[in-house]
Amino acid sequence: MRECEYIKHTSINHRKDYGQYFTPSLVSQIMVQWILRYDPQNILDPAFGLGTFYDQVIKHHQNQEYQFIAYEIDKNIIDYLNINNPKPHLTIHNCDYLETNVGKFDAIICNPPYMRFQKFLTRHDVLPKIEQQIGKKLVGYANISSVFLIKALSELNDDGSLAFIMPFEFFNTGYGKEIKQSLVENNLLKQIIIFSNEKEIFPDATTTVCILLCHKDGKKAPIKITQIKSNTELEQISDISNYYHQQIDSSNLPYNKKWTPILLSLFSDQFIPQYFVKLSVYGTFTRGIATGANEFFALTKTKINTYQLDDQNICKCITKSPQISRPVFTEYHFKMLFDADKPVYCLDVKNDEHQGIREYIALGEKLAYHQRYLTKVRNPWYKLEYRQPAPILFGVFSRGRLKVIRNLTTAINFTCYHGFYPNMFGKNFLDNLFVYLLSDIGQEIIKSNKRSYGNNLDKFEPGDLNDCFCPNQYQLALMDNMEVEKIIKTANIDEELAVKMSNDLVDKLLCF
Ligand SMILES: C[S@@+](CC[C@H](N)C(=O)[O-])C[C@H]1O[C@@H](n2cnc3c(N)ncnc32)[C@H](O)[C@@H]1O
Repeated sequence: MRECEYIKHTSINHRKDYGQYFTPSLVSQIMVQWILRYDPQNILDPAFGLGTFYDQVIKHHQNQEYQFIAYEIDKNIIDYLNINNPKPHLTIHNCDYLETNVGKFDAIICNPPYMRFQKFLTRHDVLPKIEQQIGKKLVGYANISSVFLIKALSELNDDGSLAFIMPFEFFNTGYGKEIKQSLVENNLLKQIIIFSNEKEIFPDATTTVCILLCHKDGKKAPIKITQIKSNTELEQISDISNYYHQQIDSSNLPYNKKWTPILLSLFSDQFIPQYFVKLSVYGTFTRGIATGANEFFALTKTKINTYQLDDQNICKCITKSPQISRPVFTEYHFKMLFDADKPVYCLDVKNDEHQGIREYIALGEKLAYHQRYLTKVRNPWYKLEYRQPAPILFGVFSRGRLKVIRNLTTAINFTCYHGFYPNMFGKNFLDNLFVYLLSDIGQEIIKSNKRSYGNNLDKFEPGDLNDCFCPNQYQLALMDNMEVEKIIKTANIDEELAVKMSNDLVDKLLCF
């Protein structure tokens, strides 16, 4: 790693003087994802350092016609880059970005130096120049990073995008007010990324940081808030703009208020009632069966009869989310679906000598289902993963209320649902847990762990569910069993009433 080498050979004082803290490559990767969405022709990095953003742009920019313009004040770090041969698309200017009129850009990406502006020796010459450029007086700018941001914002082309690392404290300071006002009133700010386990992600940083993602499209939209907990989470993000946990209307982010408490309250655990424990104490949510070819593996009554598939080689299975429309799913509902010729069985080959099965597998091969992404790595290709029926199901995607199902059938499920598999301990509390998950408070608590995918569509991974909080065993045991039973019966007929009844029951146990 170039950064490690550089840090080893450079004195800490030199690095401090220039504010040289490097962006980890996983972070620069998501920032580059953001700016490349808009296919920029020219990109500015006002504080180049060792060029982590450039490295990512070179890897990921689809377009071959673009320029990457960089500024770096420190001759020493530029020498370290050892750029004897010109690098593609790159021009580095060894000068003070703040003192230079750099022109306009389609994309700006930056991890600015963080240091007190008072330490910045040429500040008296620099300020008037920037004030002239942006047409505003800059008063009380205590940290140089905010001067970088305000200058960069004035250099952004219409429809341009900007990704900037900032100290988190900037949200609360007096000097931050003006930038916050401009970010919100001009509808520039689209997304804020905050980090909950910062030492893991930014081991080098001396201040708490956040990332601002802006797009100068003039369009008003709720601001997305992403909270990153680990490097592993960062690695899995393929489109940062669609990866967020909360949204906040810009009217709820007044520029003259401190933003940190507002943002943190969105993630606060305050409303997790006392003594609650993680759901994983009672068992595990696991994703459903991924077949790789649902149209082949999901079976209707007609298909089963036509191909004479015997009982030994098929099993009951929920293959699509809408097949369950009520919170309690019984054998009666299953039979209705089967009789209506819905695909509620799946292939579960145990004896491939059977005539009907042989013919069906041959048909699958003729239609090339055995060459699909998932099927071709299975042996044999038609053998599905093993799953027991799960007594509680959870819809993977949801809009509004979350889909929690008490499954009283022996049907297994495809990936449209995650299945809850209780441990020895959880087996005693299945109905109580279901009632809690159905209640408004249970739903709110689970939602605080969700990932949003735009259009108000929430997606849950099994891990999100396992981590969500629920009452401990003593609290669950306080639920009156007769009441629980009544709620389950009611849920079968009247969901709204069942939710109300479960709210009452959960409220009661919270009073103890
Ligand atoms: C926080 S580091 C970021 C480096 C790199 N972009 C990264 O993200 O890893 C800031 C860089 O800006 C440089 N720098 C500091 N003041 C500057 C200025 N006024 N103009 C241009 N570069 C500056 C520092 O030398 C340092 O390399």
